[in-house]
Amino acid sequence: MENLNSKEARAKRAIPFMNDRFGMFIHWGIYSIPARESRSEWIRSVDKVTTEEYQTYFDTFNPTNYDPKKWARLAKEAGMKYAVLTTKHHDGFCLFDSQYTDYKATNTPAGRDLVREYVDAFRAEGLKVGFYYSLLDWHHPDYPAFNDAHHPMRGNENFKHQGEHFERYIEYLHNQVKELMTNYGKIDILWFDFHYDDMTGEKWEATKLVKMVREINPDVIIDDRLGGDIKSDTPEYFVGDFGSPEQMIPAHGLTNYNGEPIPWEACITLNGNWGYSQRDANYKSARNVINMLVECTSKGGNLILNVGPDAKGNIPEKSVAILKEVGEWMSLNSEAIYGCSFSDLPKPEFGRITKSKDAYYLYVTDHCSEHIALFDVKEKIKCATLLCDGSKLSMEEPWNVHSYKQGDRPVIFVQTPPFEKLNSTGNVIKLTIEKQK
Ligand code: GLC
Repeated sequence: MENLNSKEARAKRAIPFMNDRFGMFIHWGIYSIPARESRSEWIRSVDKVTTEEYQTYFDTFNPTNYDPKKWARLAKEAGMKYAVLTTKHHDGFCLFDSQYTDYKATNTPAGRDLVREYVDAFRAEGLKVGFYYSLLDWHHPDYPAFNDAHHPMRGNENFKHQGEHFERYIEYLHNQVKELMTNYGKIDILWFDFHYDDMTGEKWEATKLVKMVREINPDVIIDDRLGGDIKSDTPEYFVGDFGSPEQMIPAHGLTNYNGEPIPWEACITLNGNWGYSQRDANYKSARNVINMLVECTSKGGNLILNVGPDAKGNIPEKSVAILKEVGEWMSLNSEAIYGCSFSDLPKPEFGRITKSKDAYYLYVTDHCSEHIALFDVKEKIKCATLLCDGSKLSMEEPWNVHSYKQGDRPVIFVQTPPFEKLNSTGNVIKLTIEKQK
């Protein structure tokens, strides 16, 4: 049988996912009712909410505006290529119709499998479909509580014996993951969350789990949060396909211990919370998002940007507006993103550089004179164009360059885009590489 964990198999499997570069993370569950800032999906743990208290949200969850077709259209319009939805978060509530629990959307006023509708809608828009699944479970009676670092009932004597039959929880977890892998057609991404303390790797029976997943779906892309060491050259079977830096973009991308680049995806919120928060208005601007997306691409990584739909099922208006603006930029400039990665040039002063096999893309955010000087370009450049409108930019040496040249480093000059365009969508210059004959 093919070794699905060989270096080659791992690298090959990740290529289509890494070419996509941009995805939508969706954190949605009954925690969108309390909608508390800086707690959101963690409210049960942070406020030590009991199962009984939390039950009100289960009893009243009725997302009458849930229309995942709208979400999918928005993701597509923003230029996103895939999505990942929280099928179950740490609170244990399942958006899907699992036969192994009653704690699911089907039994709330929503009355149906909300994951199925998401899958159908996103697939119909041609987007890849991903499932987030929490390894933690604050609802399951066999998940450790008293000594656990995060459980809402941590330190509560009444829960001292909970978790003694952890093997029953493991069976539950495996069964649910199997359901998710079998009942919804071919799933593109599986996003486990997360390992901590001794709750890591084989504690989840992770090798068995991932073997089962890959038997059903050999191509699925899995994140690295079951545990193990993704930087190792011989990683554990369960380690997953990509690193998942959270709320940060690594300074130099992600590499293994030999210094070779490995796949990664930065997961970042649009405001300051994953789940819906009634009062969190700390949104990034569309420009911030584009900057992050280019930064990730220029460092060989993906960006999965989060939205937190409210209890009615609406993605907050502000998020919609930002994503639409990002989409406008993407509709003109996505060529600098999809299938692109880091270049062989250092990060320039004017912004960032991405590269495909055919071109360099100069993302200009910080420049205001007539020409950009680019040193040490090894490839022969055929022409320079403004990506947003396809118009030519001259590559002539400025007439006075000889008075100012320093040393004999090879340098090419590219005309700066019109300033009025530079400030809006026109900040990508494409340098087409001359094909070798
Ligand atoms: C964290 C949090 C969680 C969020 C996730 C996304 O591990 O526990 O609430 O879903 O990161 O990356």
